[in-house]
Amino acid sequence: MSITPPPTYSPPKQEATALTGVVSDLKQALAEVTKTNTTIVPEVAKKHFNVENPAPVNVFNYTGAVFDDDEEEYEYADYLPSFPELTLPPLGDIPFTDRGHFADAKKANLYAEAAAQGGSVKHYTPVLGVEFKGVSLKQLSKQALDDLALLIAERGVVVFRKQDDLSIEDQLAIGAHWGPLHLHATTGVPRKAGLEHVHVVYADKGARPDATAFAKLELYHSDVTYELQPPGPTLLRNLVTPDLGGDTIFSSGAAVYSSLSPYFQKYLESLSAVHSGHEQAKGARSAGQHVRREPIETVHPLVRVHPVTGIKSVFFNAGFARRIVGVPKAESDNVMRFLNEQFAVNHDFTWRVKWEKDDVVIWDNRVVNHSALFDFWPERRHAVRVTPHGERPESVESYEARTGLKAKDWADERYKALGVAKPSLGGGVGKKERGFKD
Ligand SMILES: [Fe+2]
Repeated sequence: MSITPPPTYSPPKQEATALTGVVSDLKQALAEVTKTNTTIVPEVAKKHFNVENPAPVNVFNYTGAVFDDDEEEYEYADYLPSFPELTLPPLGDIPFTDRGHFADAKKANLYAEAAAQGGSVKHYTPVLGVEFKGVSLKQLSKQALDDLALLIAERGVVVFRKQDDLSIEDQLAIGAHWGPLHLHATTGVPRKAGLEHVHVVYADKGARPDATAFAKLELYHSDVTYELQPPGPTLLRNLVTPDLGGDTIFSSGAAVYSSLSPYFQKYLESLSAVHSGHEQAKGARSAGQHVRREPIETVHPLVRVHPVTGIKSVFFNAGFARRIVGVPKAESDNVMRFLNEQFAVNHDFTWRVKWEKDDVVIWDNRVVNHSALFDFWPERRHAVRVTPHGERPESVESYEARTGLKAKDWADERYKALGVAKPSLGGGVGKKERGFKD
């Protein structure tokens, strides 16, 4: 891959001139408003921004609503997004058994097969991230895929580099091994027929980021959590990757849970949140796209337990969670804001993936949130996602009653494995001032 160094930015003359025109007209309009006490600013907006005939802007569709369709020879034209006018019935109960239950605790099959292929494996942060190089996903046995399901549950996100031998059918088959595949209600599916279970992620020069649509903090999400059975391990393969940017940041809900006081952990364990698909459907409709399944709202526990690892995770995301049930709005708003900030600002809970062409990243949507970075415009980014359903999220109380086991705290387990005591929060009383060591 060739890396183009970032250009030195100097504003194009034409833009500068246009902006100067807007500023001068605004100044004149504001002077007029002051003089006459009338509103003239919209006239300026009409003149410069064509507000009477605005271009359609889909503020909800962060994967881009306007597509560059002028290249007939585009290699991945079959996988460009399309919006078939299907009508899908509501989703009911979907049978699901996590394949991680069938894994070897040490992932012996997976590591043996990776070694037999001559590949390498590297772990990244204490909480997240494993990278496989020189390992072909499509050659892994069913037993190795079971081990991989457990590895993803434990490590949140796993990257397989350079999967250029993986067809979309192979990707679908791996996803289907882990769970029944999700059909998305709104986002694009490939133009090629028969790939309705594939979710297309696509942006190009026609999809300029709209900074007025989302704050960066609002971009952290777990996929389609409004569904009754949101996804488990989810596979995204990048077909076209920008030379610069387009990374994805993952952040661990297990680490967020572990970082909180036992009092706050208990409080969150007692609560549920409403997750909504309505805004996504509204966004699709406003962009003129067909909504294939009517949107729903679903209540999920705010702390869920992974069915295989028994680890507790904060299951909250700004993308779809709308309110905490049974608490005053001010409390709900502030707790949601706090939780979302914890995902975003604790860099030690995150891992940032730099994509290369044909990389496949697999994350467990039950235990991590993620945020794409839309810093690559006007370059193209094109990826295809396969999204198996998981179980209906289970609260701590329900998990412990069902299994007779105690749900686990990720940090407790980590320090136990290290053979050292978990650092105490202490009483916070009588502490000495500590200066910043730099
Ligand atoms: Fe996503």
